Amino acid sequence: MSAKLKVVLTVKLPDSVETRMRELFNTTLWYTLSQMPRDQLFAAAKTADVLVTSINDRLDADFFSECGEQLKMVANFGVGYDHIDVVTGADKGIIITNTPGVLTEDTAEMTMGLIMAVSRRFVEGAEIVQKGEFSAWSPTFMLGRRIFGKRLGIVGMGRIGQALARRARAFGMSVHYHNRKPVSARISDDLQATYWDDLDQMLSRVDVVSINAPGGPGTHHLLNAERLSKLQPHAILVNTARGQIVDEQALAAMLREKRIAGVGLDVYEREPAINPELIGLPNAILLPHMASSTVEARTDMGDRVILNVKTFQDGHRPPDRVIPAML
Ligand code: 8YV
Repeated sequence: MSAKLKVVLTVKLPDSVETRMRELFNTTLWYTLSQMPRDQLFAAAKTADVLVTSINDRLDADFFSECGEQLKMVANFGVGYDHIDVVTGADKGIIITNTPGVLTEDTAEMTMGLIMAVSRRFVEGAEIVQKGEFSAWSPTFMLGRRIFGKRLGIVGMGRIGQALARRARAFGMSVHYHNRKPVSARISDDLQATYWDDLDQMLSRVDVVSINAPGGPGTHHLLNAERLSKLQPHAILVNTARGQIVDEQALAAMLREKRIAGVGLDVYEREPAINPELIGLPNAILLPHMASSTVEARTDMGDRVILNVKTFQDGHRPPDRVIPAML
């Protein structure tokens, strides 16, 4: 039997996941819901064989230059790895893994929900009832916009973008997308999807925009002020990917000036800080990064972390390795 790896968690995971990790590895848990302070992260990186991290940890070049020689693996709890300097980590020979595939449907569900909620003004309506302000039904009261028959423009047609597209088709939307390259003919035919190599061209033609691209330097402010200005005034934008993809300041200005009809955001540029310009706008639904927060996804994400660490402990290559060629 192989020796148990020393595994340190920088984040509180579901109890069932933590218990299994204690059975399989020499595991140190992180008990509180708050983020592990940076000095403790650096200290952990000097003793652990494996660090189990999350989006809360910034694993930059400093981190990888300070970590101990014993650190062999970073098993990230989450699919996105824009908070990890993958190139420097790989240079040091550290294996980095993520949790792809298991939060796809959950994130697509939340994205479709946000499209509905913003278009049909769920939150504004619910607040009216809660405040006791629902006095009479009227034909012109709380008018939203129909989703059926509208054009959805998906920015980033990976697993989550495609899962959203399948849902959008069921709601009667037509699917448009921008991606580094077109999806296969089989997927494209199945979704009856229209590819746009030019993002500006797509933005100016669709009714709803959903951001489903990965974060990182390649997509930073992909939707800058100029791009955002291509949107039609009746358009809505939802972002369940990464806040840094959109210029938040420019987006807030467009909302205030009614140059866009509404937004649904689950992620922010300086998360967990929220740009104050976005707060209090009736046409902005703001969620606290919860697109993958289902019992099922969080358990499956933990199982994926366990699979990666266990495979490594048993002397094999973990299945979900993130390598520089993927950037
Ligand atoms: C996770 C996410 O909950 O997986 C991702 O990339 O954005 C979230 O859904 C979070 O990143 C956990 O680290």
